[in-house]
Amino acid sequence: MTASLVDRLGAVGVAIIALTDNAEEAERLRKIGVASALTGVASTELSDRISDAVAQLAGSVRPAIRSTPADTGVALVCETVEPQPDPEGQGTGRLIAVWGPAGSPGRTTVAVNIAGELAADGSDVLLVDADTYGASVAAVLGLLDESAGLAQACRLADQGQLDADALRRVAATVATASGTFRVLTGITRADRWTELRAAALAIVLERARQIADVVVVDTGFCLEADEELSFDTMAPRRNAATLRPLELADTVYAVGAADPVGVPRMVRALAELEAAVPQASPIVVMNKVRSSSVGRAPERQLRDAWERYGPAFGLKSFLPHDPSAADAALLAGSLLLEAAPESVLRHAIRALVCAPAQRKRKSSVFSSTPRRRSNG
Ligand SMILES: Nc1ncnc2c1ncn2[C@@H]1O[C@H](COP(=O)(O)OP(=O)(O)OP(=O)(O)O)[C@@H](O)[C@H]1O
Ligand SMILES: [Mg+2]
Repeated sequence: MTASLVDRLGAVGVAIIALTDNAEEAERLRKIGVASALTGVASTELSDRISDAVAQLAGSVRPAIRSTPADTGVALVCETVEPQPDPEGQGTGRLIAVWGPAGSPGRTTVAVNIAGELAADGSDVLLVDADTYGASVAAVLGLLDESAGLAQACRLADQGQLDADALRRVAATVATASGTFRVLTGITRADRWTELRAAALAIVLERARQIADVVVVDTGFCLEADEELSFDTMAPRRNAATLRPLELADTVYAVGAADPVGVPRMVRALAELEAAVPQASPIVVMNKVRSSSVGRAPERQLRDAWERYGPAFGLKSFLPHDPSAADAALLAGSLLLEAAPESVLRHAIRALVCAPAQRKRKSSVFSSTPRRRSNG
């Protein structure tokens, strides 16, 4: 009995009540939203429990595993009442999702550096690589991590065994000269996407909010809902790992490439985002802004082009094309704040989430102090 199975059964109208005399098992079941009773329970009490389970299915399940459009089941659960509180307590951490269309617009660069800047400012940060098409956070941070921390966390969540300590254990720690943050690394092969199911991922994100001030999620690009193609309501959803964080996020950054291919692609992608996750109100960021791809005064050119397309969301921010800073960070397997602390790109990304940085001279501590990394 896993969180995913409970979620899928709930989606097709099956309420679950477990019989067990094992207190540990009852606790585990509670964590995945299943009520239990002792095996020798009196029949009247059992019938009450069954009624409760049915009533709860019709009304609410725990918010962390409630079906939403990332899954098919939502259409089948029509009545809603107040959800029950999460027994572990609600997390208060802010969830930031970084998303953007296909074409490598810079989602990972933005996500990783947002996480680093917030950590440098003293926030407790957990970075999550939920890109099921091309996970790259571990490589970008120079982590020799093949353990797919997010898949491990999802497995534990699915089994009702993900508490705050377990989540801390499966997250890698990245220590920079200016702050430490945790990372749940992504899946190592795209065909492992089935390991990141919506119900389990929602529990992971809920736990993440409990252990971190800010949770930053690097998502994939694809928002396609595949349920219409599938008659199997038990099947996992290909893009749940992107849709679920977008549904749950407090803030969504939509990152697009500032060139003649990237701009119209971004406009179309935002329309898809609005249809798939109507509650998301993305902050639109144009990345790799340069005059050589859009003409002189590139920000004005981009705004003019944007107006012509007339998308629902305005352009909020421009990140400069800064290949030497981006490459220096890639080469060093580190953050811009370490590899290129004075770069325009570092300061522009920092300005998305932090108060303006104090400019440091070339002899910055960021560039001179080596970084330590460890797991756990
Ligand atoms: N502002 C920038 N200036 C120059 N190069 C950049 C900038 N932003 C990102 N890059 C570079 O562009 C490439 C793609 O960036 P990144 O991996 O962040 O994109 P992505 O959207 O996450 O791509 P993917 O589709 O692989 O997930 C990387 O080589 C990165 O260093
Ligand atoms: Mg990426």
